[in-house]
Amino acid sequence: MKFFIDTANVDEIREAHAMGMADGVTTNPSLIAKEGRVFEEVIQEICEIVDGPISAEVISLEADGMVKEARELAKIHPNVVIKVPMTVDGLKATRQLAAENIKTNVTLIFSPLQALMAAKAGASYVSPFVGRLDDLSSDGMLLVEQIAEIFANYAFETEIIVASIRNPLHVLDSALAGADIATIPFNVLSKLAAHPLTDKGIKAFMADWEKTKK
Ligand code: E4P
Repeated sequence: MKFFIDTANVDEIREAHAMGMADGVTTNPSLIAKEGRVFEEVIQEICEIVDGPISAEVISLEADGMVKEARELAKIHPNVVIKVPMTVDGLKATRQLAAENIKTNVTLIFSPLQALMAAKAGASYVSPFVGRLDDLSSDGMLLVEQIAEIFANYAFETEIIVASIRNPLHVLDSALAGADIATIPFNVLSKLAAHPLTDKGIKAFMADWEKTKK
């Protein structure tokens, strides 16, 4: 399973990349706004750090506007993937962009049929939002499992990016469900690497090593 890093913060991206854990990056308007920087400049900088798919989201709500924005964003770097919202206009834009060989990540997916429609429109990726469903007492991971089954039934090439990840169990369950990618916030990535028994083991080894010097 590929790990994408779900942030627009270039320091976090550099750190995840140094760990070998950044196969790609996803951003959204909220993550970009948090950085207080010019959108296109951030995307350009991210593309210079990570050699993998970098999602940049359009703001227009109509298909024509999305396509225009997408064409401009795609000029920033060949690795830019255009994030479009899962709406009727988003589907139209996805279809048009696929015809122009511009990759898309259809975002804000909350049902398996939305994912099926996005795949049929030619999306390169779909992003089911597990955490936001869990927040409403709905089973986010069930959605991922259903999408994986549908895509396997019909051999769609569209990849599943599990998004809105809140904790390490979301990452584990994504891997068990056969998702292609988990896009992981930096704080969750740090938690994945940690284990108290690892820390305890290192402490004991260091203490024993000190004894050899006496
Ligand atoms: C990534 O593609 C999504 O935009 C992101 O994971 C959403 O996460 P949130 O639900 O924590 O805002």
